[in-house]
Amino acid sequence: MQNRRLYSEYFAPYYDEISKRFFDYDKKVASFMNLLKKDDRIFEIGIGTGLFAVHLHNEGFLIEGIDKSRDMIKLLKKNFPDLPAGFGDIKRYNFFRNYDVILMHSSVFLFTNINGTVVFESYLTSEGDMIGVLDKLYDSLNIGGRLIMNIQKNPKKIYLNKNLFYGLISKYYFAKKRVVKEHFLIKSGDVIMKNRVKKYTCFYNHFVDLINRSKFKDSSVIKNDEWVILQK
Ligand SMILES: C[S@@+](CC[C@H](N)C(=O)[O-])C[C@H]1O[C@@H](n2cnc3c(N)ncnc32)[C@H](O)[C@@H]1O
Repeated sequence: MQNRRLYSEYFAPYYDEISKRFFDYDKKVASFMNLLKKDDRIFEIGIGTGLFAVHLHNEGFLIEGIDKSRDMIKLLKKNFPDLPAGFGDIKRYNFFRNYDVILMHSSVFLFTNINGTVVFESYLTSEGDMIGVLDKLYDSLNIGGRLIMNIQKNPKKIYLNKNLFYGLISKYYFAKKRVVKEHFLIKSGDVIMKNRVKKYTCFYNHFVDLINRSKFKDSSVIKNDEWVILQK
């Protein structure tokens, strides 16, 4: 059994197979496109291997992005060499220009629907870091620009073939604002990869409190079944 970083050289090659089975990218991109104007300039944080962004790029949208995993970016460059993307951690990244839309699709900030209750999750573990990032994103949006984040459901088991599957166990500790996610790859009954990641989590109401502590406070928060949108 190997204990690996989730978006590392080892797991990244499986990422596309798992994600394509989990996310219906065509449907999700179509729903995202309904939110856009044709000339919107878009920046995706946590662009990964480019699976979401490439659809928008192919539709003629101006989209670029960053990811903090060099291995994910390496795969993106191999599969979609024309898609503008680079290595970068949003905590330290300095934007060179402003955007109309900043997208996080199942990345640094995301929402999970647990049996009808929507909760917020983040790879950033301190509220100070989250507010710092929110303020940076606010400053990097044009007036009227939007930060758009998705609402997903947790996958439990995804078969890649009949002998190989990906499994996820999520344990939420809301009093401690922690969620522990254990990701597995199981081949012919053996665990060939295990990753355990601790993330921040809170109920949606507390997320709205966080927003009110950031520069977005005067913005309108829009939420539907699929997206949470903060407008500058
Ligand atoms: C589940 S993947 C989503 C990839 C892509 N958005 C998609 O829809 O296929 C999450 C990505 O977020 C990236 N990520 C996590 N924390 C990040 C950070 N602080 N800055 C930039 N990227 C980050 C990870 O490296 C990973 O590639």
